[in-house]
Amino acid sequence: MTSHSRYERDLSLPDIEPEWVSGLRKKVGHLRVAKEIFYYRQVDSTNLLARELVQQDTINGTVIISGTQTSGRGRLGREWTSPPGGIWVSLVLYPPHQQTDLSFITISASVAVARTVEKVVGLKAEIKWPNDIISEGSKVCGILCELVSGPSGWAIIVGIGMNLNVESEDLPLTETYPAGSLKVLLGRRISEERFMESFFHDFNECYSDFLKGSQGKTKLLDQWRRYANMLGKKIIVKFGEKQVEGIAKDVDEKGYLVVEGLDGTTTRVMAGDVLRIGIVED
Ligand code: BTN
Repeated sequence: MTSHSRYERDLSLPDIEPEWVSGLRKKVGHLRVAKEIFYYRQVDSTNLLARELVQQDTINGTVIISGTQTSGRGRLGREWTSPPGGIWVSLVLYPPHQQTDLSFITISASVAVARTVEKVVGLKAEIKWPNDIISEGSKVCGILCELVSGPSGWAIIVGIGMNLNVESEDLPLTETYPAGSLKVLLGRRISEERFMESFFHDFNECYSDFLKGSQGKTKLLDQWRRYANMLGKKIIVKFGEKQVEGIAKDVDEKGYLVVEGLDGTTTRVMAGDVLRIGIVED
């Protein structure tokens, strides 16, 4: 059993670690992205706990996994529903200070999740920019990367919410995109240990590519394009109070979505929501 910080006291039930977490620790503990794994039965948000651990100067590659979250955080200030059966996880990374690049770390995590869904679950995975993983038309995973400052400099928290073995009645109805569960799509339970082992290996590889600089980033972008479900399609993307309609052309070297508007002008969007993906009519 591993416990940490105030969360141990806040819980009514002890953090009895499931067996798959101890198995996982043995299989991925040598990777730079998973040096130390803490498990909780329930927390408010693994990203919030990761922030606290950054303030306590936790090591690079700290991982927090929780069985449920009471205040899971989504992108753009949204709430993230985190019922039992899902895997709610946050990783703490300290990239070199010139490489605190949220977009590319998000791209690395998205590619790693998409690969894992295809390899371990055997379902086709797509990435909906910037970081939703879609399978069979529903969102099975969301990613929230945050930059925080701690005693050792900038840290990036990579928060990943995977609807792995969530039951259909526990899926939220309020998503902008319908939520799906990999177990429901596949029709059977998926091994958490196998899924997470594959994810950590893939993410370790993607993150190491990212750290190599421009060559590694080019490789990552190529992989991202392989999964991207909107390139060449007509989209409406909303960012802040603005909205642009056009063709999704690419993702640039900064991770921004490049949209060619109906009037031919190009817009690069750093963060936003793709509201609709359609086909281009002649
Ligand atoms: C999204 O809005 O699509 C991103 C959702 C990210 C949810 C995960 S669950 C683990 C981590 N802890 C949180 O509070 N949020 C992220």
